[in-house]
Amino acid sequence: MSDSAFVTISARLARNELVAAEAFALTGGRPDGDGVARVTTVDRVVRGAYLRRGVRVIAAAASFAELVDDVAAAEFPSDGFRVDVHDPSSRIGRDRLDIAIAIADVLPAAPNLKRPRHRFVVIAGADELLFGEAVVEADSSYLRHDAKPWCTSSSLDARLSRALVNLVPDVRSVLDPCCGAGSIVLEAASLGLVAYGVDWKPAMVGMTRENLAHFGYDGHVVRGDSRAGEQGADAIVTDLPYGHAIQTDESTVRAILERGATLAHRAVYVAPHDISGWLESAGYDMVGLHTVNKRAGFTRWVHVAVSRHAH
Ligand SMILES: C[S@@+](CC[C@H](N)C(=O)[O-])C[C@H]1O[C@@H](n2cnc3c(N)ncnc32)[C@H](O)[C@@H]1O
Repeated sequence: MSDSAFVTISARLARNELVAAEAFALTGGRPDGDGVARVTTVDRVVRGAYLRRGVRVIAAAASFAELVDDVAAAEFPSDGFRVDVHDPSSRIGRDRLDIAIAIADVLPAAPNLKRPRHRFVVIAGADELLFGEAVVEADSSYLRHDAKPWCTSSSLDARLSRALVNLVPDVRSVLDPCCGAGSIVLEAASLGLVAYGVDWKPAMVGMTRENLAHFGYDGHVVRGDSRAGEQGADAIVTDLPYGHAIQTDESTVRAILERGATLAHRAVYVAPHDISGWLESAGYDMVGLHTVNKRAGFTRWVHVAVSRHAH
């Protein structure tokens, strides 16, 4: 790990490559197997789906004994503290409570476990042990969207939808050209982005509009055929139509991709198989490809691309 000022902690979800992709998109750091990444900024951690916490590093050491010595020697405010431990692989080889007590013993101030003013974390990374102060937590605001009034059997859950929008963190507007009940539109709108939704089924347009209204979000949702869409945006983020018809419907999906490449420079497309070839022939350059294993036998493929046509 390089010597940078902060570290982030992401959820540890096996077989979900979006965890690392989201962390990289929001912070520039890549989490190790324990979800720990050295980063230079934590400004965007608050919007994280899998990214949970940003920690300002105070001490780093190769062994726990050294870490305790370094913490004892460092000067920083600690009144009303609490010490958490992130050591999912048990690298330190001690009970969490023991670890927390060993650190607490060298801090000059009194703890306050229930309402801490300073929340410290001991982090056992793959290469080194770290001690720092948690300066930001993800607000988990996406969670409430799982209680939206309308959803369908193909609706994405809010956490996944948030992570997809987080793959394009610096855009101001997002278009979902196949919005269904609007899981992605909700996340974009809740982040304060200009959110556009299109679906060719009137019922879906109604569901997305009502879902947005339920949470008091603004959004622009219209009925339309996205093979011939006209609404542009900084990025397209969408879960493409699929199901039993995917093989027979290849031409529809490819037409949506071709049109999309003229409407937004950046794109995140979810599909049940690798459609990199279709994206390339539709006018995109691939930037990333991440798989998410939902359950045995079902994998989502998340394609991140930039258009050669739209700017
Ligand atoms: C996988 S679903 C999207 C689910 C959505 N992300 C959600 O969470 O509810 C794909 C949607 O694409 C829509 N669709 C299919 N072909 C379309 C087209 N040519 N233009 C616009 N929408 C289309 C379908 O009606 C369906 O609602």
